Amino acid sequence: MDYRALGRTGVKVSRLCLGTMTFGEQNSEAEGHAQMDYALDRGINFFDAAEIYPIPPKPETQGRTEAIIGTWLAARKSRDKVVVATKVAGRGKMIWLRKNEPATRQSPGQIMEAVEASLKRLKTDHIDLYQLHWPDRPMRIFEGLDYLHLEGEGHPIGDILGAFGKLVSDGKVRFIGLSNETPWGVMSFLTAAEQRGLPRAASIQNAYNLVNRSFEIGLSEVAYREEVSLLAYSPLGQGYLSGKYEGGALPPGSRKALFARLGRYEKGNGPKAISAYIEVARRHGLDPAQMAIAFAASRPFVTSTIIGATTMDQLKTDIAAADLTLSDAVLADIEQVHLDYPNPCP
Ligand SMILES: NC(=O)c1ccc[n+]([C@@H]2O[C@H](COP(=O)([O-])OP(=O)(O)OC[C@H]3O[C@@H](n4cnc5c(N)ncnc54)[C@H](OP(=O)(O)O)[C@@H]3O)[C@@H](O)[C@H]2O)c1
Repeated sequence: MDYRALGRTGVKVSRLCLGTMTFGEQNSEAEGHAQMDYALDRGINFFDAAEIYPIPPKPETQGRTEAIIGTWLAARKSRDKVVVATKVAGRGKMIWLRKNEPATRQSPGQIMEAVEASLKRLKTDHIDLYQLHWPDRPMRIFEGLDYLHLEGEGHPIGDILGAFGKLVSDGKVRFIGLSNETPWGVMSFLTAAEQRGLPRAASIQNAYNLVNRSFEIGLSEVAYREEVSLLAYSPLGQGYLSGKYEGGALPPGSRKALFARLGRYEKGNGPKAISAYIEVARRHGLDPAQMAIAFAASRPFVTSTIIGATTMDQLKTDIAAADLTLSDAVLADIEQVHLDYPNPCP
């Protein structure tokens, strides 16, 4: 495992980060603990959670993921060995997250309420990386590449950063990060932070994988030049790039079999692109999941790639991808598929 700088924080995080959003739904507490033990043993020092997890978000399970991490941190006495990242929800309708609010927003009051609840579940007095899960301003996310302007404003970025500034000065949060952001959003946060002497975003957590390289259109330069670390999520396209759903297969217990939320991988050129990448892997004698993870992890603008697994076998395969270097021939074949089917699953 090698380690890379998290933005300008001076902290180094492993090139693979353990995603935890299956803990408390597809994975039990004991399985989550076993995953964290194994990941730490293999050199992973970075865990990612969110207040809304596990997925799919539901009032009856909300918070279980952070609670499972919390019992692990307490039982293993390993708080100082891991960089713990979590997130506060953006504008939305998951009203069960807040006590007395009609909607989730990133108002300073809601941020304070969210962080206290996360700290309690995580059984810690500080969060290393506290991220805005998605923006507070109205915008279309998780739904395509084209820009669609939605009227309305979010909470002023200065107010959001002001809340973060207080959390940092109180010692409850060390660093802050963005997620599901655009180039305009990242630059606005950086500018406001610099002008007001408030915390600077260390990272941006966006989807990045073989069938969704939209980060490269605009955001990769921002990440690279501004030293805002990309934490790349869904490197397997939620499992599709492992090949498990090829030929109409539907493995029992898989995310697709359990939850009908994966339509983005089955539209347009998505299935053709996915099959073509799997064919590239097989032609070169590679495991398709390992090729997909190694691709994301080897991009120069990616700091850490957030993997997720529901079995120990998957986790072992995925973590071993950290040792895989893709040859020029593999990268050339990947590039050809990308040219044939650019970003079919944004
Ligand atoms: N900021 C955000 O909005 C956001 C959004 C999504 C994710 N994330 C973060 O990123 C993490 C990873 O996201 P993700 O789960 O979508 O990542 P992913 O790597 O694209 O998909 C992981 C899923 O694929 C399947 N899988 C994993 N390894 C496999 C293998 N070797 N062979 C076959 N199937 C395999 C497992 O699901 P099944 O066993 O169910 O098939 C696993 O849960 C999350 O835990 C979370 O921390 C953040």
